[in-house]
Amino acid sequence: MEKQVVSKKRVADHGEVLTGNREVNAMLDLVKQETERVDSRFLEPACGTGNFLTEILERKLRIVDDRYGKSQLDYERYAVLAVSSIYGIDILQDNVQECRKRLFDIFNQKYTDLFNARAKQKCREAVRFILVYNIIHGDALSLRTVGDNPQPIVFSEWSLVDGSLLKRRDFTFHGLLDHAAMKELPLFSDLGEDVFLPRPKKEYPLTHFLEVADVDKQ
Ligand SMILES: C[S@@+](CC[C@H](N)C(=O)[O-])C[C@H]1O[C@@H](n2cnc3c(N)ncnc32)[C@H](O)[C@@H]1O
Repeated sequence: MEKQVVSKKRVADHGEVLTGNREVNAMLDLVKQETERVDSRFLEPACGTGNFLTEILERKLRIVDDRYGKSQLDYERYAVLAVSSIYGIDILQDNVQECRKRLFDIFNQKYTDLFNARAKQKCREAVRFILVYNIIHGDALSLRTVGDNPQPIVFSEWSLVDGSLLKRRDFTFHGLLDHAAMKELPLFSDLGEDVFLPRPKKEYPLTHFLEVADVDKQ
């Protein structure tokens, strides 16, 4: 039996009722194509322990395995990209930690099964690092982090450039939501109309995807 309620208090305080596997899959099937596009970005603003995000990662990694399972470097590139496209926010710290752990474990299990002793610690570190930034302890209503010193929520966009380089750009959540406030300007247009281009708060130098965690060590 899946456990969907942790305690009555958590339901009363935070509306915490986790979604069952059958419903998760039925809902994700409504956007099936996107769940199978490795770099398609998903944000769950009340992600709980990650019932939706873990299933999205499973689906993306099945595609990565099918396409790139025979080449370790390609598998690593696209598995890291798959993880980096998944974002979550939750107001409860234990949910955030559990969600990061579940996502890491899914990646790590598949990666280790495929490449055994050839699996690289650097690749695991890159995934762990990205998950710290993508799964955020925050309040999706105030758009701020939770804790002693709440700050605006910032999302990092990760894009693969020239094969193995990763470009990271940081955007504030409220800046991205201004898109909605700006009366529906599209994000893309083939017709030459005005589009909404969110401005990054910070840009980072191009980094090899396996070195991405080294930024914090400098
Ligand atoms: C109904 S549960 C759904 C969890 C998950 N999406 C799922 O389907 O299993 C709602 C979640 O929202 C979180 N939550 C409640 N208020 C929130 C807020 N203002 N910002 C972010 N998360 C919030 C709770 O901690 C809880 O994990």
